[in-house]
Amino acid sequence: MSKKIEIPEHIAIVMDGNGRWAKDRGLARTAGHEAGEKVLFDLVEAAIGFGVKELSAYAFSTENWKRTPEEVKFLMGYSRDVLRRRRDRLNEMGVKIQWIGRPQRLWKSVISELEEAQELTRKNKTLTLNMCVNYGGRSELVDATTALARDVKRGKLKPDAITEKTIEKYLYSPKMRDVDLFLRSSGEQRTSNFLPWQSVYAEFVFMDVLWPDMTPKQLWKAIEIYSERDRRFGKA
Ligand code: FPP
Repeated sequence: MSKKIEIPEHIAIVMDGNGRWAKDRGLARTAGHEAGEKVLFDLVEAAIGFGVKELSAYAFSTENWKRTPEEVKFLMGYSRDVLRRRRDRLNEMGVKIQWIGRPQRLWKSVISELEEAQELTRKNKTLTLNMCVNYGGRSELVDATTALARDVKRGKLKPDAITEKTIEKYLYSPKMRDVDLFLRSSGEQRTSNFLPWQSVYAEFVFMDVLWPDMTPKQLWKAIEIYSERDRRFGKA
């Protein structure tokens, strides 16, 4: 009898390889990002079909500011436009869009687009899509620590009463589930500052496929690999 497939509740995705995909075709790097947009939303739709409850997409990291001004400008404008283009369809599908990241340096138009999409979809329950824009795991922990230290100073919190649950309350999205499956495309095997707190017990799957070539079939393959892992969470 075939083994039952275990569906991860939360999948975190590093959408890597757009630049290489474009270079292989003699195109500008931005063409790779454009090709990557469709893939993300095809995978969101497939994830809903598979029964996944939460998906986090690394759209722009705090390190991505180091790219050329032209690419940064493209990615900012593109994030804004993608949300505008996709939010109504996502809303119809029952997707709750959530922005995860830092406001500093982010274009105001991107922030307002993210906030509008959040507001429009806030009651949806089918799948939560965390759009990680200007996100960095270390920045998240720095921001949480700063807010927590302020509350200690104000007398709202006693240092000896701080637990893991307390720290979670100060993260960008306190309700975010722990990551079950951490998926990175393009063959690179690193986490690049993505959701470190939430991924301590994640299963890591690195696929040798450039992001614009990813398909729902490959997402299913990653879920199958995940399902074969023996998750013990520290137990014997
Ligand atoms: C990493 O590939 C990709 C990004 C930094 C951007 C991700 C954007 C998309 C998938 C397009 C959809 C857009 C939004 C806003 C959701 P890379 O550029 O590092 O590729 P490389 O490693 O081959 O150079």
